[in-house]
Amino acid sequence: MSDLSSAEILRLTREYGLYEWAAQKAVKPLSVDHAQGVYFWTTDGKRFLDFNSQLMCVNIGHGDERVLTAIREQSEKLTYVMPHLVTEPRARLHQLLAEVSPGALKRSFLTLSGAEANEHAVRIARLATRRQKILVRYRSYHGATAGAVSLTGEPRRWGAEPGIPGVVRAMDPYRYRCRWCQEQPACNLDCLNHVEDVIQFEGAHTIAAVLIETVTGTNGIIIPPDGYLPGLRTLCDKYGILLIADEVMSGFGRTGEWFAVDHWDVVPDIMTLAKGLTSAYLPLGAIMVNDEIAAHFEDNFLYSGLTYGAHPVSCAAAVATIKVYQEDGLIEHARKMGTVLAREMERLRNTHPSVGETRSIGLFGLFELVKNRQTREPLAPFNATAAEMGPMAQLGAFFRENGLFTLVRWNTFFVNPPLCISEEQLREGLAIIDRALDITDAAVSV
Ligand SMILES: Cc1ncc(COP(=O)(O)O)c(C=O)c1O
Repeated sequence: MSDLSSAEILRLTREYGLYEWAAQKAVKPLSVDHAQGVYFWTTDGKRFLDFNSQLMCVNIGHGDERVLTAIREQSEKLTYVMPHLVTEPRARLHQLLAEVSPGALKRSFLTLSGAEANEHAVRIARLATRRQKILVRYRSYHGATAGAVSLTGEPRRWGAEPGIPGVVRAMDPYRYRCRWCQEQPACNLDCLNHVEDVIQFEGAHTIAAVLIETVTGTNGIIIPPDGYLPGLRTLCDKYGILLIADEVMSGFGRTGEWFAVDHWDVVPDIMTLAKGLTSAYLPLGAIMVNDEIAAHFEDNFLYSGLTYGAHPVSCAAAVATIKVYQEDGLIEHARKMGTVLAREMERLRNTHPSVGETRSIGLFGLFELVKNRQTREPLAPFNATAAEMGPMAQLGAFFRENGLFTLVRWNTFFVNPPLCISEEQLREGLAIIDRALDITDAAVSV
């Protein structure tokens, strides 16, 4: 147990710290003491079922002894050397990443986070193509550093604007609220025609890369319709534009495949990784590039490097984490549990009128809540402040009271548990959600 009481930890943090992405007064954090598997415990001893793997990152679950041992052993041997001195864990990690990544994505560059992975992916794309612009989508998040937050489409970029130059944006393949196909019986992929229009108006010869979250994470678990990714790949090839897949959140088994692109057999030119790479045991990010891009840098200078790049202890944690996915068959398990999850989410949608839609792929799931199923009016507005959350705030409070930890964002909430979750544990969380949805049902106008 901690030396400080819960109240003291919260007081000191509030008095001397600043919280992320928030007006300080609105934050009501939990003080957490320890964690194991799919659970964590507060300093007061209350147990929570972690239904969001924290920030969709603790994919293998908390406290895995194999990763802790790898960290311990590497720390005792060598904690740090500069990145031009290489180490065994680094070498093994590069090799493992090449083995699990699709197609010609064989060479990796190591960073500290997802944001930095995207920063470097864009820099590499610009250097390799000698073009400037990056085409991104509105419903996206790519990180908080200057470049990555400008590449982001959603409101978190507003505070950093005008941001870096050369970012252009297009709409997403979001069928539930799509202006092109929402009223149609099936998606007509008009969103891809729109992307092509943007490419032409921007000047294809000025666009270095299209950067997408393969399956959009925080902005709504938006799963591209079949045909979208292959279509985007074709568009990129047609105009000589690189395709960058941000798999920071959707990678490492989250969707029931190693990487979300694997669902559609599409190989991007560059793929960015973090989160599940070490399951957040230590900070680490990576960029995978294809052979052609790697070849470009054989003679051309790669303008980048980080003091903590390829940190030996983080690399050891990543190697051990990837082995856990393999040894425990966690990718297959996520796929299997994902089938149960999708079925149960659909059942909850059928019994709760406040659920407009449920979307999931593997253990990457979300409930989208509405005031009215016909109009699809969101239960809390886009970019809702804490004061505007209404019944969504009550829903969040119910989860907290009942020991369920997940992210409630505007009119959505997430189901992204660690991939090691058992069916029984999954049902334990869904049973709390079932009861919580009675609160939001009361706010529905029919
Ligand atoms: C899709 C995606 N890309 C990039 C990032 C940024 O990663 P990091 O917070 O490690 O910088 C995130 C973080 O949530 C993310 O979800």
